[in-house]
Amino acid sequence: MSSADNSGNQDQKANQTSTIWGGRFAAGPSALMEAINASISFDKKLYKQDIAGSRAHATMLAATGIITDADRDAILQGLDQVEQEIEGGSFTFSAALEDIHMNVESRLREIAGDAAGRLHTARSRNDQVATDFRLWVRAETDEIIDALARLRGALARQAAANADTVMPGFTHLQAAQPVTFGHHMLAYFEMAGRDRSRFVDSRKRLNESPLGAAALAGTGFPIDRHMTAKALGFDSPMNNSIDAVSARDFALEFLASAAICATHLTRLAEEIVVWSSAQFGFVQLSDQFTTGSSIMPQKKNPDAAELSRAKAGRIIGSLVGLLTVMKGLPLAYSKDMQEDKEPVFDAAETLLIVIQTMTGMIDDMVPVKDRLREAAGAGFTTATDLADWLVREADLPFRDAHHVTGTLVKMAEDKGCDLADLSLDDMQSVNSAITNSVFDVLTVEASAMSRQSFGGASPLRVAEQAKEALSAVEKELAE
Ligand code: ARG
Repeated sequence: MSSADNSGNQDQKANQTSTIWGGRFAAGPSALMEAINASISFDKKLYKQDIAGSRAHATMLAATGIITDADRDAILQGLDQVEQEIEGGSFTFSAALEDIHMNVESRLREIAGDAAGRLHTARSRNDQVATDFRLWVRAETDEIIDALARLRGALARQAAANADTVMPGFTHLQAAQPVTFGHHMLAYFEMAGRDRSRFVDSRKRLNESPLGAAALAGTGFPIDRHMTAKALGFDSPMNNSIDAVSARDFALEFLASAAICATHLTRLAEEIVVWSSAQFGFVQLSDQFTTGSSIMPQKKNPDAAELSRAKAGRIIGSLVGLLTVMKGLPLAYSKDMQEDKEPVFDAAETLLIVIQTMTGMIDDMVPVKDRLREAAGAGFTTATDLADWLVREADLPFRDAHHVTGTLVKMAEDKGCDLADLSLDDMQSVNSAITNSVFDVLTVEASAMSRQSFGGASPLRVAEQAKEALSAVEKELAE
């Protein structure tokens, strides 16, 4: 933008713009107009989708007799060349030509001459950009769906390998009850499954074609929208031409799903940061997903987890940004909508790298079993088991059992020992019905093993679910 000034100067390129829409314009745009208007710096990402859309449109125009087969062939050949030039790096993108649609069309005109001028019959950039963008979001959605299956694979493998690795389960970040490391991993497996299904679901709604809606009202030419929809892999054409060019809820849904998914991953990332600290020592991270410090030689920092935790900020920002652009926009197209792309591009790229990094980190992560077991017992985590024992064996109402157990926890705390270290006499001084068998339920292993309710922490349940998880992932990867 260094050349932009507010003097209203028209440079050469700006004047060239008039070759596309300049019929009613006596002067080209000011440099500032060009600077605020041009989207080519980012929407060139859509070149493949734009060319695919033009191929489908040209083919349909010939099939319906709107253009000749000879013009179609000239257009298709020209589009092949444009695509090669872009991919080979020899294509010159011009800001004066505003966006990817006019850049491609203008070069096509140079290559294919008058035939190229017929390509835009019965089409507008409004339906064109809506089509391109849907195709792009669809491809990205597919990549994220695949990446989430792989993340679920890593979580399921950790779960299967650690179905009986006892660790503390937390509430309020205070040790609450023993669970297993596998159980904790499967919690994220479930989240990632719902995240994945959100993308699978929004993909279905997204997969309708705006092409042929033209500027907003449809067209008087006898086009076949079903044909172009099919050629581009859409399930059907969109029903309403005004909606077709105005709708961006497919992009909003993508961003909302991305924001939720990224938020889930921040919770896992945060736990990895905490767990890998010397104070917790629950897991070891691999060298591949940590960095050293330039001054402190002992350090192994969980940067990948920290960045995954942080990057959710951009994705949430993208969602809020686009919601704000769309809020209150009258139908049909307004140029505001050109601002839809950068947030989606950034969010997609960011989410993919976060998912992939987290997958690698999870795969490499080694739980420190002794430390996890030790922590699982600290903080009277089997107190609920003691209360449950009183309900089961001494027929106390749970509320009374809770009270008795609370008294025993206080006693252990005063003595500076664990519940299991209290003597039977100590126990009986609080409730005479307590017998020696109470000590069987006070180990962390017994506690975890007892939680056999469906979805519970018992190694039995976790092993079953981890097995199912692994086969679910296999199916997802084969889809
Ligand atoms: N670059 C524009 C966008 O991304 C393409 C559509 C332009 N339409 C128009 N009526 N000026 O939204």
